[in-house]
Amino acid sequence: MNSIKKTENFVFQTYLRQGKAFVKGEGVFLWDEDGKKYTDFLSGIAVCSLGHCHPKITQAISKQASTLIHVSNLFYTEPQAELASKLCEKSFADRVFFANSGAEANEAAIKLARRYFQKKGENSRFKIITMEQSFHGRTMATLSATGQDKIKDGFYPLLKGFSHVPFNDIKALEKQIDATVCAVMLEPLQGEGGIIAADPEYLKAVRQLCDKTGTLLIFDEIQCGMGRCGTLFAHEMYNITPDIMTLAKALGNGLPIGAMLATGDAATGFDYGSHATTFGGTPLATAAALEVVNIISEPSFLEQVCARGQYFKEQLEKLKNKHARAVGIRGKGLLLGLELSLEADRNAAFFVEQLFKKGFIINGIQDKILRFAPPLIIENQEIDRLISALDSLL
Ligand SMILES: Cc1ncc(COP(=O)(O)O)c(C=O)c1O
Repeated sequence: MNSIKKTENFVFQTYLRQGKAFVKGEGVFLWDEDGKKYTDFLSGIAVCSLGHCHPKITQAISKQASTLIHVSNLFYTEPQAELASKLCEKSFADRVFFANSGAEANEAAIKLARRYFQKKGENSRFKIITMEQSFHGRTMATLSATGQDKIKDGFYPLLKGFSHVPFNDIKALEKQIDATVCAVMLEPLQGEGGIIAADPEYLKAVRQLCDKTGTLLIFDEIQCGMGRCGTLFAHEMYNITPDIMTLAKALGNGLPIGAMLATGDAATGFDYGSHATTFGGTPLATAAALEVVNIISEPSFLEQVCARGQYFKEQLEKLKNKHARAVGIRGKGLLLGLELSLEADRNAAFFVEQLFKKGFIINGIQDKILRFAPPLIIENQEIDRLISALDSLL
């Protein structure tokens, strides 16, 4: 039995997979078991941002794997300490809690926001407002936070205390915020919701509203952070900072790690024993992530992401001007979306499948958006190859 058959037989059938098993990755390329080469414009859903098997990350992992892999958070380790101090040095934050995934980083943020007020005796201040179309994860709390009904199906009742307002609509948020709200949580650029960036004026107004009402502001940068938009953290584009931020995905370039960063004030919500996880911040994962942060935070690296993103966007614009099927371009940096006019036989899934046959990996969201999240090291010539394939398909 080959790996596709075995997966079909023995793994829960919760993922609709494309019919190939991959065996090797290098840079922006992947190879399937028949030896066919693919150019990866998805990076394992915005994870392998430095490309597959980046030599420095592989070296950091190998070195750490042969030195110390895990001791638990009952003890100190150097890679965890170094990564935490580096993340604080590069951001607004004063403290970091390490988790294993995006959902867990968001769970930590949700728990911190609630406990921050409950510690002060404000027990009725537990509500969290999030955005319609947002995506925050699949655990019960993060599912409750997520603003998309389709993924909640069958899981009711959800956790109470969550409500959703339209994204980029400050009036809607103003109407909902009151003394029972502990936090507003949003993605500065919505990923799963359709590659929709926050308007600068909106985000500024959200920050002001949170300041005025003493509400904590949480940015979920799990997909849009870590250089993806051309700045180390997406909120840097807006010149405002949150009280709490979550990271995962690209932080480990493929090793599972999540992080919840907070200001010193917000961080007071947790005390000894308030929150914990066995695997959070293992020496192995943090050694890899430290190398990732070192590389991605280099100004010249980020400048290159902006330049490649700009180039990619311009090529997509040309497609849009040429083809009636392509109706909109979205996104920032190297997190881009092409909106298609919806026709029964030509939805996003059709293009994803056709491009896959031609050796390109992308994915579709919301039926009509093609998402492009290539490794940040993508070259213009690879972008040209994808654009030309897309051109003929459109
Ligand atoms: C913005 C955002 N938040 C949270 C998550 C959940 O992360 P994970 O799948 O690692 O739990 C995702 C995953 O796609 C995401 O895009």
